[in-house]
Amino acid sequence: MKHFVTFEGIDGSGKSTVSNLVYEKMKKEGYKIILTYEPTDSWIGKIVQKCIKTKSDPFITAYTFIADRYEHCKQIKKWLDTGKIVLCDRYVESTYAYQAAQMQKSIDNPIKWLKELSKDRYVIPDRTFLFVIDPKKSLVRIQNRENLIPFEKIDFLDKVQKNYLNISKGARFKKIDATKKIHEIVDICYKDILK
Ligand code: ADP
Ligand code: TYD
Repeated sequence: MKHFVTFEGIDGSGKSTVSNLVYEKMKKEGYKIILTYEPTDSWIGKIVQKCIKTKSDPFITAYTFIADRYEHCKQIKKWLDTGKIVLCDRYVESTYAYQAAQMQKSIDNPIKWLKELSKDRYVIPDRTFLFVIDPKKSLVRIQNRENLIPFEKIDFLDKVQKNYLNISKGARFKKIDATKKIHEIVDICYKDILK
């Protein structure tokens, strides 16, 4: 059984849909389960949203995402300590994949820099699902989204996905073919969490 599970992938890959359905299914079955997400709704999360919308400096954006997560983790620890299963829609790999894509022209090895900054400042998940899909397809899925944000562009998401694939190599990660049917993906995640 896995207790802390995160969902990662580019915009429109299906993380929110699947994490919600897994949450509903497990809740109905009587599991004590929490569904949470990043950026959060806290005051720091609101600054993060502002950074995204106003295309702020990538370093400031990175620091705010990490600060938001640091605060979020205090709550995640409490949930885990009281025996809850915690599902989180986006987490630390989002920072490595997105902020590194933003910073790659400014510094050498941005992923290494971001990992150093985050080290020992977050709870390590038991499982991270990485939803993999061609950005052209994921962007078709979200083309009608109101308020598309600057991150939702093909070239950028290509870089983000490359970063994701590069960092998601250990045993904690499970790649998901995000073009499968929604119910199939829900089933894969659900069975994996119970293992
Ligand atoms: P994300 O949270 O990764 O940005 P969403 O879960 O919001 O993505 O999904 C974006 C859109 O794609 C939604 O309209 C959703 O219904 C649709 N979608 C999600 N997963 C699939 C799938 N496996 N196949 C087809 N459409 C999907
Ligand atoms: P979110 O609302 O989860 O986007 P989506 O539902 O489209 O996947 O996240 C908003 C944006 O924030 C998204 O483009 C990814 C970005 N993001 C980062 O750049 N760094 C991070 O650490 C996180 C958590 C999100």
